[in-house]
Amino acid sequence: MSNHSAAVISLIVAMFIGGLPHAVASEVTVYKSATCGCCNNWIAHMKQNGFTVKAVNVADPVSYKKKYGVPLNLASCHTALVEGYVIEGHVPAADIKRLLKQRPKVSGLIVPGMPDGSPGMEQGNPPVPYDVLTFDNRGKVMVYSRH
Ligand code: CU
Ligand code: CU
Repeated sequence: MSNHSAAVISLIVAMFIGGLPHAVASEVTVYKSATCGCCNNWIAHMKQNGFTVKAVNVADPVSYKKKYGVPLNLASCHTALVEGYVIEGHVPAADIKRLLKQRPKVSGLIVPGMPDGSPGMEQGNPPVPYDVLTFDNRGKVMVYSRH
């Protein structure tokens, strides 16, 4: 075998191994209150987009936001974990897929509040524009996408 084909084969192997975590559905753990209807709608959106979801009803969702470093002024209803990232609120699955592909050095993504028209918040009110934000453990917040 030439050095060239050996290099090509190891590249293909590396691509295959690198691609494996995304070939398997990522599991998302969602901390929410038992009575949160829009949380269930967001969970349905995630499942429709290929994620496996483990929903955990908790008495004090805010304690999970604190535990995972979510800035409380940007908080929403539920806090989720996926592959080491924190997802706060009604973040679209497409943004989470991009996050898991790009793997930026941030803590995770946030959609503050509960904007009408965001995934899980399609409840008849006219959709409003909203931003998906990144946050980190040093208080830096940046826009990740606009919807
Ligand atoms: Cu909500
Ligand atoms: Cu929620």
